[in-house]
Amino acid sequence: MSIVLVGAPGSGKSSVGRALAAELERDFIDVDSRIEDVVGKPIREIFADEGEAHFRELEESATLELIQTDAVVSLGGGAVLSEKVRDALQHHDVVWLKVSIGQATRRVGMNTVRPLLLGNVRGRLIELLRERTPLYEAVATTTIDTDERSPREIASELADRR
Ligand code: S3P
Repeated sequence: MSIVLVGAPGSGKSSVGRALAAELERDFIDVDSRIEDVVGKPIREIFADEGEAHFRELEESATLELIQTDAVVSLGGGAVLSEKVRDALQHHDVVWLKVSIGQATRRVGMNTVRPLLLGNVRGRLIELLRERTPLYEAVATTTIDTDERSPREIASELADRR
């Protein structure tokens, strides 16, 4: 069964996921990267050309498929907006990487290409976290605070617990 990482942009899903997969000798799959490979363009272009709703459809089907593998799978920050995804995650090992607004803002940086954060990174993160915190909480089987800790430290702790 896969180990699924959820959390806001800037929570460290990709870097923790890569480190955790290496520790556990599993494959690592980043759902956003997989979508970019399949569609053949970056997420920001998918948003710009086809719109967010279309991206969410691609994200939902890619997520539902990839969580069925044995990999460590990092989801896009908004994947939990889908009720189907939340339902499917009920039967999975789901790690919520918790991050404060300040830390997420620093990690994402002002030069992010993430379409939903353009213009006002901190303000948009506040809104996203307000909407999504209850959703991350609802699907998580493990919660880990990521502030002030390196991806490697977090990955070791998660690996030790498994
Ligand atoms: C999004 C987060 C991004 C990406 C897309 C939408 C979101 O992934 O899926 O830009 O809705 O929060 P990360 O969480 O990896 O930044």
